[in-house]
Amino acid sequence: MTDSQSRDIFGVLVRKNSHKDIRRLKRESSVATIHGNKFWKSTSLLIDYLESSPPKPNMRVLEIGCGWGIGGVFLAKNYDATVTALDADESVFPYLHYHADINGVNVTTVKERYENVSVDMLSEFDMVIASDICFWDEMTKPLSDLIHRCYQAGVERVVMTDPGRQPFRDMAEECFEKYAAIYENWSVPHPYNISGLVLDIE
Ligand SMILES: C[S@@+](CC[C@H](N)C(=O)[O-])C[C@H]1O[C@@H](n2cnc3c(N)ncnc32)[C@H](O)[C@@H]1O
Repeated sequence: MTDSQSRDIFGVLVRKNSHKDIRRLKRESSVATIHGNKFWKSTSLLIDYLESSPPKPNMRVLEIGCGWGIGGVFLAKNYDATVTALDADESVFPYLHYHADINGVNVTTVKERYENVSVDMLSEFDMVIASDICFWDEMTKPLSDLIHRCYQAGVERVVMTDPGRQPFRDMAEECFEKYAAIYENWSVPHPYNISGLVLDIE
């Protein structure tokens, strides 16, 4: 249920850092080391975009750099997606499983860097999603390489969102040249109040 310590993000219940359960998880787990310490607003961009351009039902979805994994939880809850959530930092997973639980869905987690996700592994998925995972210059090349492997693996669709940082712009512009892609500004008004970029490759 939503209260002052929780948010309703497009029908997904998301706890604030001040919520007692999140404070308990923080005491019990190790500290997130690559910014997976909270729900990032780019997820609202991702979900709003997916609502306007919905996936097919029952897709096998891989969320990379999942953090709390709210994008994957949304797809599991609303589109019966079978979701695998991948992150280099396993300390994010207790928060992800907690949110999957309170939203009544299951999500499988994998500790791995996206640089190491192979064509073989990608061929198990129909769709790859991500929000706010391209924030350092050194992430641009590994992510465009990952998208190339998605293409080789026959992944049907890759959707990524970002608040508009330059490393993401560089990666997205390269992909826009190479693939059949939508690359556009996206804004989500009150109460979400976030603007950024969407890259949608089919
Ligand atoms: C800014 S957070 C975004 C989390 C989540 N996607 C969201 O929008 O709330 C970036 C996430 O990417 C993960 N990450 C960073 N580099 C990664 C890599 N090379 N492979 C896999 N995950 C990575 C971090 O651990 C963190 O959870």
